[in-house]
Amino acid sequence: MSKVLVTGGAGFIGSNLVDQLIQDGDEVIIVDDLSMGLASNIPSSPKVTFYEHSITDHVFMKDLLLKEQFDYIYLLAAIASVADSVARPYETHQINQEANIFILETIRQHKLPIKKVLFTSSAAVYGNNPELPKREDSTIDPLTPYAIDKFATERFVIDYGKLYNIPTVAVRFFNVYGPRQNPKSPYSGVLSLITQAAKHQSAFTIFGDGEQTRDFVFIKDVIQALCLLTKGSNIVHQVFNVGAGKHTSLNQVIQVYEQIINWELQIIHKAERVGDIKHSYADITQLRSLGYQPHYDITTGLKLYWESLT
Ligand code: UD1
Repeated sequence: MSKVLVTGGAGFIGSNLVDQLIQDGDEVIIVDDLSMGLASNIPSSPKVTFYEHSITDHVFMKDLLLKEQFDYIYLLAAIASVADSVARPYETHQINQEANIFILETIRQHKLPIKKVLFTSSAAVYGNNPELPKREDSTIDPLTPYAIDKFATERFVIDYGKLYNIPTVAVRFFNVYGPRQNPKSPYSGVLSLITQAAKHQSAFTIFGDGEQTRDFVFIKDVIQALCLLTKGSNIVHQVFNVGAGKHTSLNQVIQVYEQIINWELQIIHKAERVGDIKHSYADITQLRSLGYQPHYDITTGLKLYWESLT
């Protein structure tokens, strides 16, 4: 049994991770200010303690870290909206970068005996680099405060680890989808928007010709990756792409969805989104070398997502 901190544990990815940790018999402490997460995502279990709190509160975070002496720390709390980061760059920076560095600094100053700290970054760091698939050593091109903060924090996490002997890793998420992804959120990824359109039998808007592709990775594969990189291996001081290693177009997604729901979605076509990238998918060789194997193809994943809502 381990003692684990999950910041952002009430969110989509965080709460799915918490479920897995509980299944593994761990004691889990969640810090989440519910700015994006939902209290209802948190499983009620004697093994879970939830603090509705911002990670930017240094006094609170320091007290917690010193009191609990965590084995593992998953840094998921973030303002996950790129648009929000453009509208409020300084504020989102406090959360997406500064608060995480404070956690590292507390670990360093107090020589906390952590087994692994994992930071969650994003494929957004690759920006408009057209190279495909994206390898971890591909050129990065962070274009927004969100992407800049994610990339800079990755570097802090990895280099703090190297400099001060703290076992750290970072991941770059591609397009994660699955149960608990809030389709009502304006920040929702395209698959949750299609799911919402299907659920309400409303129209779905495709920006562009629908031939754009993304590396859609099902939440359970993401959780597999997170656990592998923490408890499942001794790997440290590296950054890993987390994707399915496949590319699927929006038109393909719609076809799959129509087979699942057994009716035709109402599609509206609009002009391509400004700044949209055409194709994106991950080279996951590094993660595979540790034993990672994505188990959910787009059909299986979408079916599970759909069933979770119906
Ligand atoms: C995601 C982020 C984006 C970030 C980018 C960087 C979200 C919601 N989006 O974008 O902010 O800059 O990663 O890696 O977190 N689409 C439609 N109809 C819709 C919604 C989307 O056709 O209603 C299209 C988009 O134009 C895009 C594709 O679907 O071509 C995927 O969109 P999205 O889910 O937003 O993901 P990313 O474009 O990868």
